[in-house]
Amino acid sequence: MKLNIGGEEKKEGWKILNIQKKPHVDFIGDISDLGQFEDNSIDEIYASHVIEHVPQKKIKQTFEGIFRVLNQNGKVYISVPDMDILCTIFIDPKAPIKVKHHVMRMMFGGQTDDFDFHYYGWNIEFMKNTLSAAGFKKLERVKSFSLFKDTSEFAPYGSPISLNVIGYK
Ligand SMILES: C[S@@+](CC[C@H](N)C(=O)[O-])C[C@H]1O[C@@H](n2cnc3c(N)ncnc32)[C@H](O)[C@@H]1O
Repeated sequence: MKLNIGGEEKKEGWKILNIQKKPHVDFIGDISDLGQFEDNSIDEIYASHVIEHVPQKKIKQTFEGIFRVLNQNGKVYISVPDMDILCTIFIDPKAPIKVKHHVMRMMFGGQTDDFDFHYYGWNIEFMKNTLSAAGFKKLERVKSFSLFKDTSEFAPYGSPISLNVIGYK
């Protein structure tokens, strides 16, 4: 099985797990508790713009849970807002206030519903450490996964605002 966590887009070969009941959702659940899935039962996990919605104290269990349910040689695709990129846009003295406000919302979440809040600001160093601590043997940073047309591709000011990585079990 391939599992898109926090997914919204239907795609052949992929199941969707989301904390909210939405169209196309196959499993309701929280990425920080994958207890409904067996060990070594999922080939690929995809999570675009979800991990930043997990509270800091639940990050360790979240990554350990992803590692546990992935098959041997499984992989996880993770996209998060990249704080290094967002900070660079934010502190540019030429950035209009409208742009700064938009960047601030990408940092803290749009706060349009109870789940649209960000609890963690990610960058490549935090991601490397966290994946490695959970047992992942390799991390690859990519421009695009070319899998879903979602926020992982979002580039409102020319270049993508996301950190896109693949973690290999
Ligand atoms: C910002 S949207 C991203 C949607 C899509 N993956 C994308 O990249 O455009 C976050 C999605 O993750 C879901 N979500 C938020 N917190 C979650 C959690 N703890 N576990 C699973 N899904 C979560 C939300 O319901 C929402 O559908």
